[in-house]
Amino acid sequence: MRAAAVRCGKPETAAARAAVSRAGQRSQRPSRPAGTETVGTLRSMRAIVISEPGGPERLTLREVPDPEPGPGEVLVDVAATAVNRADINQRQGNYPPPPGAPEYPGLECSGHIAALGPETAASGWHVGDQVCALLSGGGYAERVAVPVGQLLPIPAGIGLAEAAGLPEVACTVWSNIFMTAGLRSGETLLVHGGGSGIGTFAVQLAHAWGARVFTTAGSDEKLQRCRELGADVTINYREEEFAERVHAETDGAGVDVILDIMGGSYLAANVRCLAVNGRLTIIGLMGGRSAELDLGRMLVKRLSVHATSLRSRPRAEKAAIVQGVAEHVWPLVEAGTVRPIVDREMPLAEAGEAHRTMESSAHIGKIVLTT
Ligand SMILES: NC(=O)c1ccc[n+]([C@@H]2O[C@H](COP(=O)([O-])OP(=O)(O)OC[C@H]3O[C@@H](n4cnc5c(N)ncnc54)[C@H](OP(=O)(O)O)[C@@H]3O)[C@@H](O)[C@H]2O)c1
Repeated sequence: MRAAAVRCGKPETAAARAAVSRAGQRSQRPSRPAGTETVGTLRSMRAIVISEPGGPERLTLREVPDPEPGPGEVLVDVAATAVNRADINQRQGNYPPPPGAPEYPGLECSGHIAALGPETAASGWHVGDQVCALLSGGGYAERVAVPVGQLLPIPAGIGLAEAAGLPEVACTVWSNIFMTAGLRSGETLLVHGGGSGIGTFAVQLAHAWGARVFTTAGSDEKLQRCRELGADVTINYREEEFAERVHAETDGAGVDVILDIMGGSYLAANVRCLAVNGRLTIIGLMGGRSAELDLGRMLVKRLSVHATSLRSRPRAEKAAIVQGVAEHVWPLVEAGTVRPIVDREMPLAEAGEAHRTMESSAHIGKIVLTT
């Protein structure tokens, strides 16, 4: 059985009551959201439930039991979450949560710490702290249990709602472009889908790092936005072959690193336009999961291909990524060099409509859902 958590509403020990009292003095926590109530001895909350795999209409707001923070976890009162492409795959039944993860969608959130679970006393986090968090699921809810290694402070100058859209993009971009591909200042980076949540963040961070940034997108409006965010070369993939344009812009040398969201349909062209010692990091399969890989070209150019998924990584790896983000990325966010790009905010109850918007690709940056 799990040890009792330190809950805001009902602290179970003197130490817990003291922690709650200290937290109350430190920050003004919002009152418990309307719509939550006690069911028997269990408290309940509202969460978006996928009634069965299918379209956006399958997302329904329901009363469900409160999560219980386990060892090394805290309970977060969610102020906002954000939509990711992976949520659409999960809704369609193609991307089940990893073992132990909450069943509700939502890979990131912001809010306040409502309770400390067991074995968190030395974590430095306190009840009442404002946080944002990388999740394995469960963000589309009023409360979620989060491993302490996946918590980040809200960067100074950033609002709670817009901070909800930062953890997933910051951790994905940092871990792939910098930790895995080792992008250096002065190198060239190609970001596919520059208008996406991931793309808008990658363009800004790589530009701030001193890279020459190329990006693709499907509309001139998105490309214009990418230029404003620091992209040097913008390519409308509906109107021209990106590999040819890369060759033209680099005098045939190619780019050093590619962050790819398409997978199979872009593999050949990606390998074609990588420079000697180039690194391709594949994070999405929007263009399919398989394709032929030209090993001859890889051998001659000494290329590497990486493919990663953040959600399925073990806790310790996620914690290392989060720590890297706090150290290297948060200072740039606090300085205003890298900004959260939020297309729109919608109420959590309208998650289905938010999914429709993402599937239409009408958005630029993140779609945030507020509780
Ligand atoms: N592996 C991981 O750990 C990880 C983590 C986070 C996200 N991801 C992946 O990253 C991708 C982006 O996620 P997101 O949440 O930021 O989604 P998103 O905002 O919906 O972005 C998807 C983007 O792809 C663009 N796109 C579609 N076809 C394209 C093409 N042929 N060439 C270039 N761009 C194209 C879309 O707009 P236009 O067509 O209008 O340009 C849209 O901007 C998804 O594949 C997601 O699964 C992976």
